[in-house]
Amino acid sequence: MDNTEDYIFKFQGYNFQRSLLNLELINNLDDFEIRDDDVFIVTYPKSGTIWTQHILTLIYFEKYRNRTENMTVNYRTPYFEYKKTKIDFLNRPSPRLFCSHLPYYLVPKGLKSKKAKIIYIYRNPKDVLISYYHFSNFFSGFEPSQSIECFIERFLDGKVVGSLWFDHIRGWYEHRHDFNILFVMYEEMKKDLRSSVQKISRFLEKELSEEDLDAVVNQATFENMKTNPLVNHDAIAKCYIGIRTDGSVLRKGTIGDWKNHLTVEQNERFDRIFQKRMKDFPLKFIWDMDEN
Ligand code: A3P
Repeated sequence: MDNTEDYIFKFQGYNFQRSLLNLELINNLDDFEIRDDDVFIVTYPKSGTIWTQHILTLIYFEKYRNRTENMTVNYRTPYFEYKKTKIDFLNRPSPRLFCSHLPYYLVPKGLKSKKAKIIYIYRNPKDVLISYYHFSNFFSGFEPSQSIECFIERFLDGKVVGSLWFDHIRGWYEHRHDFNILFVMYEEMKKDLRSSVQKISRFLEKELSEEDLDAVVNQATFENMKTNPLVNHDAIAKCYIGIRTDGSVLRKGTIGDWKNHLTVEQNERFDRIFQKRMKDFPLKFIWDMDEN
């Protein structure tokens, strides 16, 4: 039986997660007033959102970096369209940091003034798929799948929160000239976190001293995020979404885990669809830890 509608709210052709959605906000997206110094992290789910939320929060908030405050990453860099916190966005002091899974065509029109900044994080879709499969079985706000095969079908049909991965990345990339946007690859962050943090901070015009850069890089490693309660919010997540099994958003944090899950046939099928849909797409992807 298909329970998709229990979990997904379809709005203007895009699939939102139902239980956390801020309906009032998405009904008035066009009018949401954007400030010049707003920063949005945009991702397709499971592409490194929380990692980038943490990095931006470390860059912007000294007390978060020094661990002298107890504000969680979701408070400092909240989801835009989902109500995980009760933050009053309109009265929030600048600079406002947000993260979002919105497709390019639904974002507030003010982002097209090209002053506010967008960082788009993308990840090879086989690892996205595997990460998403585990996540959906873990969190009760998402539709579980009995097998990877069932999830592959839903993922390739776009019957998941975030809709079709191909549409999300293509849409943002093809409309990049409408926005002040930086594209950053998850795998690039994994392979060279320091350079990636520098690239991000330069784009944000927040150049870091060597000491601060060290502090950001050190705290943004997978191992250190796992032991930091301000970012590893599995305990909080259990309360606001609920969980079905043991697990973690910070699961493996690696490149190429798809090889441990996909059969040869599933992998070849995925490749065929990827090649068809991403033909002529200029961004490159990294599928393996050893690949450059
Ligand atoms: P895995 O499930 O493959 O481990 P999102 O935040 O968009 O939901 O993405 C979650 C994915 O990003 C998870 O992937 C998680 O482990 C990974 N991730 C989070 N922080 C990371 C880090 N510091 N280094 C590498 N991967 C990280």
